Amino acid sequence: MLCCFRPPLFMNFRFRTTPLPPGPKPWPLIGNLPEVLINKPTHRWIHNLMNQIGTDIACIRLGNVHVIIVTCPVISRKFLRENDAVFASRPNCMSAEVVSNGFQAVFSRPLGSRWESTKKIISGHVLSPAKHHWLAGKRLEEADNLVRYVYRQCVGYDNTGMVNVRTVAQHFCGNVIRKMLFGRRYFGTGKEDGGPGVEEEEHLNAIFTMLEYLYSFGISDYLPWLRRFDLDGHEKITREATMVAGKYHDPIIEERINQWEKGTKTEEEDLLDVLINLRDVNGNQLLSKDEIKGEVTELTLAAVDNPSNALEWALAEMLNQPEILEKVVEELDRVVGTDRLVQESDIPSLNYIKACIREAFRLHPFAPFNVPHVSMSDKIVSGYFIPKDSRVLLSRKALGRNPNVWEEPLKFKPERHLKNDGAKVELKESELRFISFSTGRRGCPGIMLGTSVTVMLFARLLQGFSWELPPNQSKIDLSEAGDNLFLAKPLVALAKPRLPENLYPVN
Ligand code: HEM
Repeated sequence: MLCCFRPPLFMNFRFRTTPLPPGPKPWPLIGNLPEVLINKPTHRWIHNLMNQIGTDIACIRLGNVHVIIVTCPVISRKFLRENDAVFASRPNCMSAEVVSNGFQAVFSRPLGSRWESTKKIISGHVLSPAKHHWLAGKRLEEADNLVRYVYRQCVGYDNTGMVNVRTVAQHFCGNVIRKMLFGRRYFGTGKEDGGPGVEEEEHLNAIFTMLEYLYSFGISDYLPWLRRFDLDGHEKITREATMVAGKYHDPIIEERINQWEKGTKTEEEDLLDVLINLRDVNGNQLLSKDEIKGEVTELTLAAVDNPSNALEWALAEMLNQPEILEKVVEELDRVVGTDRLVQESDIPSLNYIKACIREAFRLHPFAPFNVPHVSMSDKIVSGYFIPKDSRVLLSRKALGRNPNVWEEPLKFKPERHLKNDGAKVELKESELRFISFSTGRRGCPGIMLGTSVTVMLFARLLQGFSWELPPNQSKIDLSEAGDNLFLAKPLVALAKPRLPENLYPVN
């Protein structure tokens, strides 16, 4: 049943006379948690409900938390641009606490002076243009390894060219961030063909499990007194995955800190060295050991999900619309040619590839909602009362598919992102017509790195190989997975080398 509830009587008159956004009538104490428990997955229930009500903004009460969902860009901008300072905190929730080592890192930290100083540190000293440039060689090694790994699956005895695109894309992203953070691709002895070893498979599985549970609708986030019972099992799963990631990260971090303390290491070679050596004007370390551990995990989480998911979906869409694939290849041949491999310096000229990536972010976001924002005070937005401590979720899925914004919203059509005057296409979308890097105080500080990783992943795979449907298959099934927004079945496609043999890295 629909309800337009009103705030309690003790509030100031303006707030008291302003309604909350529409939403289902909550039960006493528990709010709409029963509906959340019955209707899985929660994001599909919420989107169906909003369609039925016909609203662009809704309020669902879970326990005593007001969860505000937004599906249109105009209202989204009111939250993250006009009232950014009010809505720039993060929720105190179990999954974020566990993965961030107790809110010790910038992504999950609630608003406050420590968040402010660490955001400055991460943006200005770790993900800065200078550091990005400094680590270009490490990213290039991984771009070469990507081509080598796929090439090995195409040539030689027993190799069919049938490539699991999800595995390739996810491991490329994992390799890049491990190389930049730790200076290494492999935690163990690695694989001769450039593919993941058992350690990297375990590590990345843990990272994607953490991503699945981070900010999911866990019961104890809304009824904190139930946390010790872990009724939905989220805490156990999140803790186990975090321990696996820590099993690989922590010994490296501890050893590296020791090396710097003992003076056996004197030259910075990767981002872990940078994190350890950050100092204030008095020479005091800026990040504690726990904070370094939290940042390492969060930076790893932030780097792998969006690029790999965008590549898998975009390639699946292109295999069903080969004319798009042809345009990508035409652009690569025109801009780069066929006598060298595409480089990061080509990125500004690869407008059509960037349009394909924007289209993948729009139509197939990795997660149904943006990272939650929390309100620091009562506020009226778009004529609705938004109480202090509300969790605001911009719907990545519904923004990108909003029929009032996008023509033929369900069609994969990269051309919609090309500009008439031929101006450069960028991956960021500050108008929030879909969510890529978001905007405002909590906006992504990894735009440069995220753009390089995503464009190089697309460009190297599409320049180095022609892609076809697997034999005996006439189309890729574009169904979404039941619980999340992944392609239901991992994409497997037929790759064939398309450049002169001498361009493929061999070792
Ligand atoms: C294509 C790749 C990427 C996309 C689409 C992306 C997108 C996003 C989005 C949507 C947010 C949340 C913004 C909000 O709360 O409104 C975010 C936050 C963040 N991202 Fe990214 N990101 C990408 C790559 C990266 C990379 C490579 C890094 C660093 C290794 C990174 C680091 C962060 C951090 C630290 C935050 C938290 C900022 C804060 O809470 O203040 N991201 N990103």
